[in-house]
Amino acid sequence: MMTENGSDVVLRVEGLRTYFFVRRGVLRAVDGVSFHVRRGEAFGLVGESGCGKTMTSLSLMRLVPAPAGRIVGGRVVLGGRDLLQLSEREMQRVRGKEISIVLQDPMSSLNPAFTIGDQTAEPIRLHQRLRGGALWQKVIESLKLVRIPAAEKRLGDYPHQMSGGQRQRVVGAIGLSCQPTLLIADEPTTALDVTVQAQYLELLREAQNRLQLSMVFITHDFGVVARMCDRVAVMYAGRIVETAGTRDLFDNPCHPYTKALLACIPKVQAEEQELATIDGQPPDLVNPHGHCRFAPRCTERIERCLQEYPPEVAVSENHQVSCWRGGSAAC
Ligand SMILES: Nc1ncnc2c1ncn2[C@@H]1O[C@H](COP(=O)(O)OP(=O)(O)O)[C@@H](O)[C@H]1O
Ligand code: SF4
Ligand SMILES: [Mg+2]
Repeated sequence: MMTENGSDVVLRVEGLRTYFFVRRGVLRAVDGVSFHVRRGEAFGLVGESGCGKTMTSLSLMRLVPAPAGRIVGGRVVLGGRDLLQLSEREMQRVRGKEISIVLQDPMSSLNPAFTIGDQTAEPIRLHQRLRGGALWQKVIESLKLVRIPAAEKRLGDYPHQMSGGQRQRVVGAIGLSCQPTLLIADEPTTALDVTVQAQYLELLREAQNRLQLSMVFITHDFGVVARMCDRVAVMYAGRIVETAGTRDLFDNPCHPYTKALLACIPKVQAEEQELATIDGQPPDLVNPHGHCRFAPRCTERIERCLQEYPPEVAVSENHQVSCWRGGSAAC
């Protein structure tokens, strides 16, 4: 495993590009995304709807909807191997074991025809090859980890017999059951009410800390970022425009898009607010222009912004921004 800044880097994504080949042309959903995640770190990906967060996470799992969608470039290095080079058969051994995903809609992840016991047992049976008493012991342990009350008695329940919050916890239990190296959570609380959401985030964070999991946490909600993430990348129109430690990003945002997003959050209730909208429309991802994609909406635009895409510059060791006005002068 590679070491960076004295920490283990578990996942390294380099120049990832995932395109959809649609009638109108080539839709560049993910267009050169690079980031890394360290052991035990929760890394956030934040941005408005449609900026490419889900396609980034599905690309890591190699689950991009085919045939229209295709990963066309880049590397996804997990534990020293580029997952994009594996055969589909090898990839099946990685999914659920080394990388798990927790999705936003538990009903689409759970099968209504099977009990939650069977569904939690499936990845453990497959990847850990446990059977009989040992298997069920592990299933109960996994459900207890996400605080399903009286887990022993719930094994025979079907998804519809549980509340929305409990179903989401079961999805979490399935994701965590094989102690993956990397857990991806894609807007896992969007369908939950605020109180249930707070409880779920807390137990996910607790389990992540306890198991020392690396996590990619996807959200459009900066309140969730503040609560969950150690570092965060801001995505805009298929690209990462700024990456920093969470505290640093909140205190010292450099990219005009990040500043605009943060300015939309009323200070007092910052933890509960979702992103408000910024004036103007995100660009069309089919044949996007070659210059800064935020330029049409940017209040800090200079002439160069409409000529070339800005390169990434380091504001400090752990803080990067892609903006022609970037670097210490702009922040
Ligand atoms: N199945 C699909 N076919 C064509 N385009 C898609 C498909 N799924 C997503 N897209 C497009 O890819 C872009 C990124 O989508 P997505 O990753 O889901 O965004 P986010 O998760 O940030 O809301 C969007 O422009 C979306 O319209
Ligand atoms: S490069 Fe220019 S247009 Fe783009 S965000 Fe920076 S200042 Fe604004
Ligand atoms: Mg999404």
